[in-house]
Amino acid sequence: MSTANTVSAKVVTTHVLSEMKLRGEKIAMLTAYDYSMARILDNAGIDVILVGDSASNVMAGNITTLPITLDQMIYHAASVHNAVSRALVVVDLPFGSYQGNSLEALQSAIRVMKETGCAAVKLEGGIEIIDSIKRIISAGIPIMGHLGLMPQSIHKFGTYTVRAKHDEEAEKLITDAKLLEEAGCFAIVLEKIPADLAGVIARELKIPVIGIGAGPQTDGQVLVLHDMLGINQDFSPRFLRRYHNLYAEITGSVTTYINDVKSSDFPNEREQY
Ligand code: KIV
Repeated sequence: MSTANTVSAKVVTTHVLSEMKLRGEKIAMLTAYDYSMARILDNAGIDVILVGDSASNVMAGNITTLPITLDQMIYHAASVHNAVSRALVVVDLPFGSYQGNSLEALQSAIRVMKETGCAAVKLEGGIEIIDSIKRIISAGIPIMGHLGLMPQSIHKFGTYTVRAKHDEEAEKLITDAKLLEEAGCFAIVLEKIPADLAGVIARELKIPVIGIGAGPQTDGQVLVLHDMLGINQDFSPRFLRRYHNLYAEITGSVTTYINDVKSSDFPNEREQY
């Protein structure tokens, strides 16, 4: 078993994740969008790095994930891939790159695999996109599913509130999760759903179920890096644990630097040629 202090050198594959589920070892996943952060995460021993389309929010400042393009996702994913030697790197297919038809979905997934070097893609949705999921998997590309709150469909639902609180939606979620497993997905993300429902799905599926705002009964957890490090202070859902206040730390360092420059304290004699 790996801990942050004794990181196993073994490369994380989709097969390793299913072995972890069998052993009851929790899977730790975080987002990253650039080389420098991905390097820190990989060296710290993270199991899975998600090049999420949340890059649209935290890297580009958009209100939703919808504007980010396939070209932009490929740029972020290639940068992350350059940094990683151990973690499994999964790349979100962005809105508009797979919903049209299964051929478009396959072409987008192939571009990600060819142009980034990453190992898998993630798509949001269940029955509605099952043909695309099957076609991508039949081309040998591993897929992580994503159900529950699906940010690419925000305009259909109108809010970011907890999903599947009522029986009908919960039943559809369970059916979709089973469909994704049958279609060959290697794992599923469940976002912002009741903890007990997530537990039922995690126990019923053989593939790993990774939660975000889905309680402790899933096989692993994922958070957006900028949220958990406190770089982004605008987003404080109940499920988010902040491990740092990097916004304050960086502000402190930048303020000190400004003062040092203005007062001619920087550079000093040792900091020049
Ligand atoms: O884009 C993203 O960061 C995600 C996670 C919230 C799971 O999909």
